[in-house]
Amino acid sequence: MSAISIRTFDPSDAQILQNLRLEALAGSPEAFLSSFEEEATLSLETVRDRIPSSGPNAIFGAYSGEQLVGMAGFAVYDRMKARHKGVMWGVYVKPEWRRQKVGQALVRQVIDHASRHVIVLEAAVSLVNEGARRTYHGLGFKPYGIERKAIRVGDNFYDEELLYLEFPKG
Ligand SMILES: CC(C)(COP(=O)(O)OP(=O)(O)OC[C@H]1O[C@@H](n2cnc3c(N)ncnc32)[C@H](O)[C@@H]1OP(=O)(O)O)[C@@H](O)C(=O)NCCC(=O)NCCS
Repeated sequence: MSAISIRTFDPSDAQILQNLRLEALAGSPEAFLSSFEEEATLSLETVRDRIPSSGPNAIFGAYSGEQLVGMAGFAVYDRMKARHKGVMWGVYVKPEWRRQKVGQALVRQVIDHASRHVIVLEAAVSLVNEGARRTYHGLGFKPYGIERKAIRVGDNFYDEELLYLEFPKG
């Protein structure tokens, strides 16, 4: 693998983020709860507003030089009694960059970041998604349940494995 660097998106990256998101949602619909149809209609301004610029929430991009090759998001639950928990979302690596540890590097980054902000990090993954399951399990996520028919794509339903990672208290 050529050197990959990871950095957070900022609001000025709205267009490249939107392009990558739409590629992900079109190419792997069964992997994400968000749909291409819903996100394709978002204005650039809305996408920009959704990119965290401060606070614990973050979207990370993986770059080879200046080329964006993958992404992963982290968000803390809003409600007061749930702010000790965060969720990893939107993990995606461009097809031509897969199996080169980019996904692993992105998830590691989310874990490292999350460990400084929450006690529990959650994730969910389609049971049929061998690559993502292997990536998450390999980095310490533990399954705690299955959500039946969590995602619907047309006439097909996908069960999701629910995962968590607990950080030792400081
Ligand atoms: C899932 C995904 C992010 C993995 O990214 P990646 O860069 O290819 O993964 P890595 O190269 O870092 O591999 C990490 C581990 O998973 C394994 N792995 C990756 N893809 C695999 C696959 N398709 N089948 C089996 N194992 C796979 C690797 O062998 C490696 O295991 P190891 O640590 O035991 O050697 C990528 O395939 C992807 O973007 N898929 C489409 C979107 C998606 O499913 N996102 C996840 C939503 S929950």
